[in-house]
Amino acid sequence: MSFPNVRMRRLRRTKALRTMLKQVQIQPSNLIYPIFADETISEPVPIATMPGYFRYPLDKVVEEGKAALEQGVKSVLLFGIPAEKDEMGSGAYAKNGVVQKAAWEIKSRFKDELVIIGDVCLCEYTNHGHCGIIDKKYCEVLNDDTLELLGKTAVSQVEAGVDIVAPSAMMDGQVFAIREFLDESGFEQVPILAYSAKYASAFYGPFRDAAESAPKFGNRQSYQMSQGSSVHEALREMELDISEGADMLMVKPALAYLDIISLAKASFDVPIVAYNVSGEYSMVKAAALNGWVDEADIVRETLTGIKRAGADLIITYHTKNVKDWLK
Ligand code: PBG
Repeated sequence: MSFPNVRMRRLRRTKALRTMLKQVQIQPSNLIYPIFADETISEPVPIATMPGYFRYPLDKVVEEGKAALEQGVKSVLLFGIPAEKDEMGSGAYAKNGVVQKAAWEIKSRFKDELVIIGDVCLCEYTNHGHCGIIDKKYCEVLNDDTLELLGKTAVSQVEAGVDIVAPSAMMDGQVFAIREFLDESGFEQVPILAYSAKYASAFYGPFRDAAESAPKFGNRQSYQMSQGSSVHEALREMELDISEGADMLMVKPALAYLDIISLAKASFDVPIVAYNVSGEYSMVKAAALNGWVDEADIVRETLTGIKRAGADLIITYHTKNVKDWLK
């Protein structure tokens, strides 16, 4: 059957009809709020490349947790800006590291009301800005030597109060190593959210500015995925992470990789998380600040698209203003 018997507009005629048929809806409880904790500051510092976003001193992270909860958000993702960086990224796994301290503050205040996710990576803590340790002779990021440090980072975060660890270094075997470290420390109940299909992306630019984590030489293309690689490679990354013990999978960035989100949803029975990254946020903000688009409408449409593609949870900087755009 076709026109004039079929008329698609029949089901769009009234607002009630449209609302009744709506299937994809964003809920604050499906959003994850990224927080930058900075141990070098005493007042919130605006992030120049991310309008409306701040780095927070340790004594202000609790307020951010509270703001999230008040909006119905259940989870925060912690990043740290340490006072010192070194070759081995030791601030990442220090007992009194910045993320550890931030997690402790939030956990002490909110207990199990708020789910704390820790980003497990070294790039914010190494003086060279890479996600692993460096073989100086060949200027290469060493895979297996990095695994131990990621394992230690995960354990120290959990000891401080982190509920879910999210390895983002894209080292081979990182999920396996972290699972082993956690289990050996008695943390067999702590889930791993694996940044599985993480692409080498220009959309991370503003984040690297915020976290001062840009690589000092070279780029991340020998460990993060290539933009033009086959979708089978993404599938393989995700399969491997599942087999190594990942409890949830992440695709990152979101908008240029909606096909990968769909693929993840169709292929695996674990929760799928999408990271609506810094550059995606900043572009919306820039256009909105110029009056070129309506921010609330654009944010709703963007997140609806990511969810429709198959994301169960979305990490997004727009979480901060969820009340403004979620009418
Ligand atoms: C750490 C990490 C990065 C992001 C999240 N975790 C930066 C990178 O890989 O360079 C980027 C997040 C964003 O752009 O919002 N490796």
